[in-house]
Amino acid sequence: MDQIIVTGNGPLNGQIPIAGAKNACLTLMPATLLSEEPLTLTNAPRLSDIRTMTLLLQSLGAEVQALQEGQVLAMSSHDLTSQRADYDIVRKMRASILVLGPLLARFGHAEVSLPGGCAIGARPVDLHLKALEAMGAELDLRDGYVHAKAPAGGLRGGLVDFPFVSVGATENALMAATLAKGTTVLKNAAREPEIVDLARCLQKMGAQIDGEGTSEITIQGVDRLGGATHRVVTDRIELGTYMLAPAICGGEVECLGGTIDLVSAFCEKLDEAGIHVEETPNGVKVARRNGRVSAVDVTTEPFPGFPTDLQAQMMALLCTAEGTSVLEEKIFENRFMHAPELIRMGAQIDVQGGHATVTGVDRLRGAPVMATDLRASVSLILAGLAAEGDTVVSRVYHLDRGYEHVVRKLSGVGARIERVKEQ
Ligand code: UD1
Repeated sequence: MDQIIVTGNGPLNGQIPIAGAKNACLTLMPATLLSEEPLTLTNAPRLSDIRTMTLLLQSLGAEVQALQEGQVLAMSSHDLTSQRADYDIVRKMRASILVLGPLLARFGHAEVSLPGGCAIGARPVDLHLKALEAMGAELDLRDGYVHAKAPAGGLRGGLVDFPFVSVGATENALMAATLAKGTTVLKNAAREPEIVDLARCLQKMGAQIDGEGTSEITIQGVDRLGGATHRVVTDRIELGTYMLAPAICGGEVECLGGTIDLVSAFCEKLDEAGIHVEETPNGVKVARRNGRVSAVDVTTEPFPGFPTDLQAQMMALLCTAEGTSVLEEKIFENRFMHAPELIRMGAQIDVQGGHATVTGVDRLRGAPVMATDLRASVSLILAGLAAEGDTVVSRVYHLDRGYEHVVRKLSGVGARIERVKEQ
């Protein structure tokens, strides 16, 4: 297994290109199952999660070709051979559940294994299932699989009122509703940029969708969807992650391809902490020039609030801030697994339930640490960039799920970072 070794070495300067969004791509790919005609995605990120979704779609008989070094995904679900998503693939990635809605909508039946995924709390899929039931689906949970059947004549439009916001359940319901008979209304829908991106792509395929980006989405079902070519939206989490690199180490870095509206709540917190952020014609520039950053309190919320997927990285910044910060995690239970690792690097963090209190120290010290999930692993790399000495991060396969070319991107702005085979 590989390790990443980071050696803290002062300010970073230059540019970092930001890839297409993993989480958008993971919902745009299953959208191919809705149509007989080809769907082509451009600006796709090169990540192991994308390869897992590729394998899953191929196991159903879809054609998925990765072109231009993986940045273009040419897909066709013309000749699907199966409507069953097997445990062997689904267990590797929770987003696999996103094939359920499209398969059920187009074929009237589907079997999908219940997913696994990141170890960040229980993460059930009940909201996905309730939404499909509201469209008339009959669901049977047995042998670890969801066995789903649409009524004769197919899914029908329905009212789905989510008790709380779920990105994945909104995506599954949105895709299923495009081919349902009649009108579906999704209330308390997620408003994340990835949902808007999915809606834009489905609209290009011929879907009738209104209200994407608001908490009420209305879908008028159509008989069939066509093909499309769609560019995947910028990854706002990768953007926020790399914006934190100069915030933590000092210097000035321009993140190419990003816009502030993708990360506005996060930018407000950076501003409060004393970090300069500005939008440029090519992206977002971040600079930290003088002294320590100030402590800030952060609460994670659904979009447009502060994203849970940037909480771990923000904690890495606050470990060396002046004063005490409180981070409240409201989306996932058990999402502070990076805290004990940061403590090994000299951070002062007290976790009580959903709250972490971080008291800033002058400097972190390099240490051997363990990546526990995707975002936690990159927070350890960020912390290592500013720590004294070497930080050795193990289990970097978590990182490969969500960040392409981390070493190249960070060394391009002057960081000392390398990937090695574990001794
Ligand atoms: C997506 C993102 C993930 C991000 C999360 C929240 C993808 C592939 N992943 O995950 O990176 O951290 O949004 O922004 O896009 N829940 C239920 N029942 C359900 C569904 C969700 O109880 O049926 C709970 C979850 O356990 C969690 C909360 O709802 O506590 C929000 O989860 P959700 O928005 O669904 O996250 P994902 O779509 O899994």
